[in-house]
Amino acid sequence: MRPCLVVGNWKMNKTIEEAVHYVQALLPLLSGSSIEPWLAVPFTCIQPVAEAAKDSSLRIGAQNMNDATHGAFTGEIAAKMLLNAGAQFVILGHSERRMLYKEDDAFINRKVHRALQDQLRPLLCIGEKREEREQGRTHEVLQAQMTKGLEGIKKEQASQIVIAYEPVWAIGSLEPATPDLANETHRMCRQWLKELFGEEIAQQMSLIYGGSVNEDNAPALLSQPEIDGLLVGGASLTPATFSQIIHSQINKVPTP
Ligand code: PGA
Repeated sequence: MRPCLVVGNWKMNKTIEEAVHYVQALLPLLSGSSIEPWLAVPFTCIQPVAEAAKDSSLRIGAQNMNDATHGAFTGEIAAKMLLNAGAQFVILGHSERRMLYKEDDAFINRKVHRALQDQLRPLLCIGEKREEREQGRTHEVLQAQMTKGLEGIKKEQASQIVIAYEPVWAIGSLEPATPDLANETHRMCRQWLKELFGEEIAQQMSLIYGGSVNEDNAPALLSQPEIDGLLVGGASLTPATFSQIIHSQINKVPTP
């Protein structure tokens, strides 16, 4: 059985003080859930939040990194620095990075390799834009992002990777994918993972959905057999809504 993950992505929000208050409010709300809570916070918050969350089930991660180990890359941050600050995972290839900062699949692929080498779990995001869906290109776009993003990854490394399917049209839009559409897309993604890494490894890899997830739609999404968790932006910004998602009642439909 794959673990069920709920990953918060704060994006560019919260000062250190706000972040620590949030975690202090969240921790008591976590008990009794079998879902693994992860939180991707701004770089400045990683160390204090990891300290506040130590001895709890909450894992702290980053939202981006560079593929180089060190050197003359003004404004960038390396995997080892994130690890040293207390991060356990890193979001890579988020559509905001792809679109606003022109990150391409080759760069994202180098980051996936670097994260694995330096013991950070990569959370690789893929997703089609609205016009790509309307042009009937969803499968082609997702398959290309996945195969290029995972190029050269060895079978024995692959189970450390989490894939997040985030349709770009669903992010911050109040228009989430329907549970059926998300499940069907995850099924297709798992098929590609089987082609890349074989049946056994593909079954161990977590595939999570993101895009306008909230406390109301989370249970239906999580109940789908191919959806192993959620990536949550806006609704992760308050402990009350994030913890409600973590406590979603899930009725997993058996895989046919
Ligand atoms: P959203 O963002 O939940 O606010 O739609 C999700 C994401 O971008 O990771």
